[in-house]
Amino acid sequence: MTTPRSATDEATDGTGSPAAPGLLHLRAAGVSLVLDTRGPLLPRVLHWGADLGDVPDAELDEVFRTSVPPVASGSTDTPVPLSLVPEQSAAWLGTPGLTGHRDGADFSTAFAVTSVETEHDTERDGAPVAHRVVTRATDAVAGLDLRLDLEVLPAGLVRTRAAVTSTGDGVFALGTLDVALPLPREADEILDFTGRHLRERSAQRHAFVAGTHLRESRRARSHDGTLLLTAGRRGFGYRAGEVWGVHVAWSGNTRTFAEQAMPTGTRLLGAGELLLAGEIRLAAREAYESPWVYASYGDGLDELSGRFHEYLRSRPQHPRTPRKSLINVWEAVYFDHDLDRLTALADAAAEVGVERYVLDDGWFHGRRDDTSGLGDWYVDATVWPQGLGPLVDHVRGLGMEFGLWFEPEMVNPDSDLARSHPEWILQAGGRMPPEARNQQVLDLAHPEAWAYVFERIDAILTEYPIGYVKWDHNRDLIDAGHSATGAAGVHEQTLATYRLLDELRARHPEVEFESCSGGGGRADLGILERTDRIWTSDCIDALERQVIEAGTGLLVPPEMLGSHIGSPHSHTTGRRHDLGFRGATAFFGHLGIEWNLAAASEQERADVARWVEAYRTHRDLLHHGRTVRADDPDPALRVHGVVAADGREAIFAVVQVATGVWAPPGRVRLPGLDPATTYDVRPLAPGDEVVPRHRNALPPWWTDGARLSGRTLGAVGVQAPNQFPEHTVLLHVRAV
Ligand code: DGJ
Repeated sequence: MTTPRSATDEATDGTGSPAAPGLLHLRAAGVSLVLDTRGPLLPRVLHWGADLGDVPDAELDEVFRTSVPPVASGSTDTPVPLSLVPEQSAAWLGTPGLTGHRDGADFSTAFAVTSVETEHDTERDGAPVAHRVVTRATDAVAGLDLRLDLEVLPAGLVRTRAAVTSTGDGVFALGTLDVALPLPREADEILDFTGRHLRERSAQRHAFVAGTHLRESRRARSHDGTLLLTAGRRGFGYRAGEVWGVHVAWSGNTRTFAEQAMPTGTRLLGAGELLLAGEIRLAAREAYESPWVYASYGDGLDELSGRFHEYLRSRPQHPRTPRKSLINVWEAVYFDHDLDRLTALADAAAEVGVERYVLDDGWFHGRRDDTSGLGDWYVDATVWPQGLGPLVDHVRGLGMEFGLWFEPEMVNPDSDLARSHPEWILQAGGRMPPEARNQQVLDLAHPEAWAYVFERIDAILTEYPIGYVKWDHNRDLIDAGHSATGAAGVHEQTLATYRLLDELRARHPEVEFESCSGGGGRADLGILERTDRIWTSDCIDALERQVIEAGTGLLVPPEMLGSHIGSPHSHTTGRRHDLGFRGATAFFGHLGIEWNLAAASEQERADVARWVEAYRTHRDLLHHGRTVRADDPDPALRVHGVVAADGREAIFAVVQVATGVWAPPGRVRLPGLDPATTYDVRPLAPGDEVVPRHRNALPPWWTDGARLSGRTLGAVGVQAPNQFPEHTVLLHVRAV
């Protein structure tokens, strides 16, 4: 890390005269962002996208001059700029960046920039930052100060956030504080994600038309929410086509939107926290800071996604030890806890090479099913008369790490906790919210509630040698207010949850944390700053996982994507899949097993052992390389892989998700390899088994492998075998 360089520039008069200080060109990893911070209006992004190269100051001035539009008929007499926090006082008629009022007044702001600080080659929380710009502005009439942070990270990722301080009398009730980044006219197609519990991250694509495509999450989790809202050139794919996307690093309520504001047709991506009515009321000198909004640009989704992966991997807290293969007992035993059954499962897991054993829901007081016990974080003496010690010792004696499930933010009304502290439950209007999974949400902003949960988890982590916590969160926050004040509480709940995690991590630095929320309900960069992986979905069906992991994986790198080999028939879809398909799917994430191995046949256990062994052999490549996905024209096929950072090795999956309309499938391209390197390509065991199992299913090159350059593999490809649907083959590609 080089020494930070910094400067404080007083804002100029904003006349647009040549003044390179303040007209900033920020570059990293093939991305340019040109920011006009000369004031007096709030900073404007003049370009965010492809790298412009080493642009002289004079040309930057020309970029500014040639960006100023003519005045349109029927419009204001001055051009309408889109600033990072757009304001109506500047004639912006799209969604305003900041809304709120002070007892009915101060509804429209007119900020004037007062200072701009820049820093280069610096860091935040131990992770490198290429460029940082901090702009301060004030609106003396509205009684508000604004701070805008914008950072460009070495991966080419941009992040920005805003903070507002009330300087006036009385209370400023904040409605929204969003940031906005402009899109070029070429971004004319939107891609984002929707879904539900057990079917997360379903892509939806449509034209970018006038108006606002707004995605809100009002439940403080997001099975249906979009992890990424992207817009790009029509038809953009994984490998090509300019595309821009945003993500809100926040585990509470969020809003992300793609907007085409009229009459100018200006396009933008905006995002921020979704604040409930009255949730943020700022008395004099009180401040609100929005979450970071991350923005990524790429020529194709792989590049856009790779910037997120690279950033996450650059942080000091990113998990760096080999990701332990694990067994989670949930779908093996559910609530049926019994020491003999669970030790037999541990024996079977150790036999197949598993390295971590996670005891899921059902171990604590009164938790015999999902109707009771949540919140009573004491080991249940009826099921575990000697505590968890015998199981923990057995698991550790087999050489595995022990992990334990908690759902710290939740409470069953049928629990000692709820009976003694009903006032600790988030609620509104003196009534309890509708129950979901028989549970309510604990108000962690209540200091005593927070202290109770902290003490309980801390005590269990201190009593037993636990290396891993699965942190669940199984219901939406509905009517989530503080019982004492009647005020909305999702914002404070989110901060209190972060504080709980942060303090537990500080107290138990050796423990890894998994973010689970009924599967993929909580997979944002806010939670990932303080957890080591997500449980990607409660649906373990390998076919569904092809879609769920492709979507989630755009944001979350493979080493943080929990991906399990389930039992032969999926508990959530009823489909049956062979082990080859289940194994080859779990192989590309953080591999686990969630199946009663103790009841599996010897042959099945031997086959699972081969997958665990393959995962352990190749995880270094899989968890440090670049994820690539081919834009295969056949909807029945998916081709994806991971290429080592140095380009010397790769593993690809050719996944037959359905029967093809044509057969044989034809040549599949293997993207992302070094064009100038020659590679040896051959099937990789145990993913080398082709079903149907007859010789004619195989292309002639299969047996002896192939030698081709990265350029040829990317442009021409190799013939894929005939496969039954819901089957995968793996290819190992190594530089010769
Ligand atoms: C939902 C999780 O996603 C499951 O894996 C499991 O932990 C259950 N909760 C336990 O109640």
